[in-house]
Amino acid sequence: MKEVFVTRKIHPAGLALLKKAGYKITVYPKDQMIEKKELLAGVKGKDALLSLLTDKIDEDVFKAAGPRLKVVANYAVGFDNVDLQAAKKHNVTVTNTPSDKVNESVAEETFALMMALARRIAEADHFSKHGQYKGWAPMLLNGVDVYGKTLGLIGAGRIGSMVARRAVNGFGMKLIYSDMRPNSELEKQLGAKKVSLVNLLKKADFISLHVPLLPSTRHMISTKQLAMMKPGAFLINTSRGPVVDEKALLKALRSKKIAGAGLDVFECEPAIDCDLRDNLELKSFENVILTPHIASATEAARRDMSEIAAKNIIAVLKGKKALTPAKV
Ligand code: GLV
Ligand code: GLV
Repeated sequence: MKEVFVTRKIHPAGLALLKKAGYKITVYPKDQMIEKKELLAGVKGKDALLSLLTDKIDEDVFKAAGPRLKVVANYAVGFDNVDLQAAKKHNVTVTNTPSDKVNESVAEETFALMMALARRIAEADHFSKHGQYKGWAPMLLNGVDVYGKTLGLIGAGRIGSMVARRAVNGFGMKLIYSDMRPNSELEKQLGAKKVSLVNLLKKADFISLHVPLLPSTRHMISTKQLAMMKPGAFLINTSRGPVVDEKALLKALRSKKIAGAGLDVFECEPAIDCDLRDNLELKSFENVILTPHIASATEAARRDMSEIAAKNIIAVLKGKKALTPAKV
């Protein structure tokens, strides 16, 4: 009988598929991030591993698993937590969950952060709930409009394109993007213009990151890039924390170089702040909105992720091609 190890409780839809396929499933019983030691013990002798983005899947894991392991199905769109070279060496297929449903959810959270920043929703909520509202006032919590502004997408792949559609069709935004590859569909359908990263930083009112975490994208937004941003521009990150140099971001916020930031991911996640020695805290800024890595956290998206991870496992264990192999 084929055996699957799941590192944490996930949406049950995928587990039902695995069960129907006749596999023995072991789910790590504690609803918390699995410790490395327990991961190594859990994966031993298994045919498949269903991992989360919080699990570091490295050489140790492949070694501990042994030769039966055929597939690591990562319950995420991103897969920077998996050592693809080690997987290749051990002949293990790695898959992710980049479905339209999941990507649309991420695009919605991106938009939610953008709107919340522009209209100061978190500050206004706090104000209203803490007895500060004493009557309508002309200058109370004035924000900025999103309508007609320029959105700069860094990374115009699937998720970026879904953000773009909302921006152009829903909010009449102008669209510029930077990417290694041109996206002609985006240009044709939404009038997007491909520009250099430097030009994007200089021109966009809202900048949103939609790149995977790679050596080439780590800290791609740092002091120099933040300094190029237009005064009054906002930065939104729903990709991976280390794409932004958090220390540089904190300094840009403190010097009011940028208008604010909406962050769903953090450089030293799950810590919100990497290092408090500088007394710079993300939490202390009213113009920073923080969400705890929930961009794909909708019932529909999490169901889809669960099912896709399961279907990838079933395909590989049946000797077929994975549905969505992890591709850089
Ligand atoms: C979430 O961050 C994901 O990669 O799915
Ligand atoms: C990134 O995850 C993309 O597909 O755009």
